[in-house]
Amino acid sequence: MKTTTFEEYQAAYDKSVNDPEAFWADIAGHFQWRKPWDKVLEWNFEEPKIEWFKGAKLNITENALDRHLAERGEQPALIWEPNEPDDKAVTITYSQLHRRVCRFANVLKKHGVGKGDRVCIYLPMVPELAISVLACARIGAIHSVVFGGFSARSIADRINDAACTMVITSDGAFRGAKVIPMKETVDDALEKCSTVKDVIVMTRTRTPVSMLKGRDHWWEEEVKYVDADCPAEEMDAEDPLFILYTSGSTGKPKGVVHTCGGYMVYATYTFANVFQYEPGELHFCTADIGWITGHSYIVYGPLCYGATSLMFEGVPTYPDAGRFWEITEKHKVNILYTAPTAIRALICFGLQYVKDHDLSSLKKLGSVGEPINEEAWQWYKHNIGHDDTPLVDTWWQTETGGIMISSIAGVTPEKPTFATLPLPGVQPVLVDEAGKVIEGNGVSGNLCIKFPWPGMLRTTWGDHDRCQKTYFSAYPGMYFTGDGCLRDEDGMYRITGRVDDVINVSGHRIGTAEVENAINMHLGVVESAVVGYPHDIKGQGIYAYVITEKWPDEPEMMRKDIGATVARVIGPIARPDKVQFVTGLPKTRSGKIMRRILRKVAEGDTSNLGDTSTLLDPAVVEEIKDGAL
Ligand code: PRX
Repeated sequence: MKTTTFEEYQAAYDKSVNDPEAFWADIAGHFQWRKPWDKVLEWNFEEPKIEWFKGAKLNITENALDRHLAERGEQPALIWEPNEPDDKAVTITYSQLHRRVCRFANVLKKHGVGKGDRVCIYLPMVPELAISVLACARIGAIHSVVFGGFSARSIADRINDAACTMVITSDGAFRGAKVIPMKETVDDALEKCSTVKDVIVMTRTRTPVSMLKGRDHWWEEEVKYVDADCPAEEMDAEDPLFILYTSGSTGKPKGVVHTCGGYMVYATYTFANVFQYEPGELHFCTADIGWITGHSYIVYGPLCYGATSLMFEGVPTYPDAGRFWEITEKHKVNILYTAPTAIRALICFGLQYVKDHDLSSLKKLGSVGEPINEEAWQWYKHNIGHDDTPLVDTWWQTETGGIMISSIAGVTPEKPTFATLPLPGVQPVLVDEAGKVIEGNGVSGNLCIKFPWPGMLRTTWGDHDRCQKTYFSAYPGMYFTGDGCLRDEDGMYRITGRVDDVINVSGHRIGTAEVENAINMHLGVVESAVVGYPHDIKGQGIYAYVITEKWPDEPEMMRKDIGATVARVIGPIARPDKVQFVTGLPKTRSGKIMRRILRKVAEGDTSNLGDTSTLLDPAVVEEIKDGAL
C-alpha cells in the first residue's frame, strides 16, 4: 500500500488520476471482503451520489481485529496511558481487544441495538471508548461519538438529530488536575431526548452518579454475563459506519456520514502511506477519539493496518509540560501525530521540559488540525525531531475521512508551513470567487476537490439537501472544502485557513453562527457578531461584538456571564476570548453584517478598513475601532 520513493509516489499519483478505479481496486485488494465489489466507483457531484466498492460486503472489525489474530494476536493493538503518570499503563493485545469488543457488542445486542441503530458515545479517552466504537461497528450500529468537552445541550442536539437509542458514557473523566462529570451531563441531556432507551455507564472516577432503574446499566456488570463470541454483521460497503457532527458556517452542526468500505480503505491507506508505518512501530496520535483525527488515526486506520496505537487520557501540560516527552520516552513512541496548538503551548513553557527526555525513538512527526506557523514547525522539527526526523503537515477534514494533502514521511519533500502535495487519489483545484478554475503555479484561491476519493462523506445525516448545498453547490461539479489555499511556484499547497464563517480554535472547528446564537440567548443581549482573530496559542481566538439592551453596569462581570452561557449552551471550547460591547454593528443597507470590518478590528488592524460607503451607518465603525480590545 505504501509508496516508498518519490518516483513511486509520482507513479501512484499518475495512476490514481488516469485510472482511479484500477488504482483503488489495487489498494482495496489488501483488505478482507466477504464479497467483492461489482463496481469500484459510481458517482456524480450534482446530487451528490458517491458509491465506492458497490455491492461489496464486509465488516470493518474483521479487518481491524479478526484478520490479525492468527499472525499478531499477541501483539499490542492499543496501549493506554492514563491521566496520572504514576498509574499503570494498560496494554491490550489484538486478541484481547477482539474479545472485549465482541463481549461489549453482545451487551449492545442484549439491549436490542442492531444494524442501522444509532448509538451516542460520550466517554473520556479510555480503552472503553475504542471498544465501544468497534462494538458498534461489529453489529452494524452507527456510532456518533460526541467529544467530552461538549455541553448537555450539544449532546442532546446530536442525540435528537440522529435519534440515538443508546448512550454510552462514564461516571466522570480525569483531565489533568480536573475531574469532569460525564454521566451527570448525559442525564441533563436526556431530559430533552425521548429516543434513548438505555444508558451504559463505565466506571472511571467513582464520582457518585444517579442510576435510573430500567434505563441505566453499569458497564462492568453488563459485560460479565455475555458471551465473548460475537460474529460480525455483514455490511454493505456503502452502509453508514458512523456519524460525526461538525460545525459549518450556518445553523446547527451537521452529522457527517461515513460508510464502511470506502472509509476503511481510505483511513488505512493514508495511515500506512503518510506515516510509512513499519511493523512493530508505536503510533501516538494525541487527538481525542471525539474528533475525526481520533476515529481515523487512533482507531480505524492503525487497527486495520495491524499497527500498535497509543491512546492518552490526559492533557499535554499535566502534571507538567513535559508529559508528551515523558510518554514518548516511556513507551518508545515512533510516530507522534499532534496539533500545532499543542506545540505552541509547549513552546511557551520552554525547552527545560524537553531536554531531559530521550526522544531518540521518534522516527516520524505529524501535524494536523490547523495551519502550522513557521515558528512552531521549526521548533517541532528541531527540538523534537532533531532536524532529521520527517515532519508531515497533514491537511484534511471531518468530511474527507482521511488525510488529503500532506508530505509522505521521508518520501516526498517537506516545506515548512506547507501541507505540500496531494496524496494519490486526491485531485485538488483552486477556484476564484467566480468559480473559474485557476491554473498554473504561484496562485491562490478557494480549495476544491474535483474527483471523488473513497473516504469522502456521503451525506449529512437526515438532510441530504444540506450536504449538497454546503459542499457541492458553491462550485458545481466539485467538492468545496471551505478553505483558502496557495499553490506556490513548485506546485506545493499551503492551506491559509477557512474562507467561510468557521473559526478554528485550537484545531476545533466552531461556527460563528452557533456562538452568536448562544450569546444571543444571554439575558440582556440584543444581537451579536462573532469573528476569529489570530491567537498566539490557539491559532484563532473568538472575538464577539455584543449589543446589549442597556450598557452593562459591570462590563467585566457581564463578559464572564456571557462566557458561562456559551459554555453551557455549546461547551467550554466555544467560550469567547474577547467580548466587546457595542451600540451597533456595521451593516449594509440590506442588513448584512460586514464581517470583513469586524475581522480587521479584531486583528488590531484598523489602518485600512476598505470601502465602508455601503454601510447604513458608517459612524458605528469609529465606535467599534475606539472600543477595540
Ligand atoms: O481549515 C482546515 C483545518 O481544519 C479544518 C477541518 O477541521 P476538522 O473537520 O475539525 O478536522 C480537523 C482534523 C482533520 C480544515 O478545513 N485544517 C486541518 N488540517 C490542517 C488545517 N489547516 C491547515 N493545515 C492543516 N494541516
